[in-house]
Amino acid sequence: MFNILVIHGPNLNLLGEREPEVYGSTTLEQLNQVLLQKANNLDAEAKFFQNNSEGKIIDFIHENRKWAHGIIINPGALTHYSYSLRDAIASVAKPTIEVHLSDIHQRESFRTISVIKEVCIDQIYGLGIQSYVKGLERLVLHLREKSADEKL
Ligand code: DQA
Repeated sequence: MFNILVIHGPNLNLLGEREPEVYGSTTLEQLNQVLLQKANNLDAEAKFFQNNSEGKIIDFIHENRKWAHGIIINPGALTHYSYSLRDAIASVAKPTIEVHLSDIHQRESFRTISVIKEVCIDQIYGLGIQSYVKGLERLVLHLREKSADEKL
């Protein structure tokens, strides 16, 4: 059984009412329910966290580093400038997938830059809540392959 942190960054607590034409009408609670179900199907355990503060997200990653096998993170706008979040992900050295609801490559130019991407195994964007679902599937597949390799 794999343990996975699902982290939502700033402003994602307002999902459902925040710019629904960009981010959809699903609330954060509904999204987490979908992911909980998906995690169960994949025989994984998920721990969810949302915060609007960079430091609290970093603390959460640190505090859960011994429990977690991998991380799914939508860093929100921190994606585009947070070197401290990038360093936190690199520090705990867990396979991490960066996800975005919107297509960050087709919006304002500042959104095309991710300072997180290089410390992640993948970046999935533009699929609405399916970006998270696909991210979870990909992460579990990666963890299964990794553990199979380690047993060889
Ligand atoms: C986002 C894209 C970011 O640019 C933005 O700041 C967000 C949400 C997304 O999920 O599409 O807060 O990460």
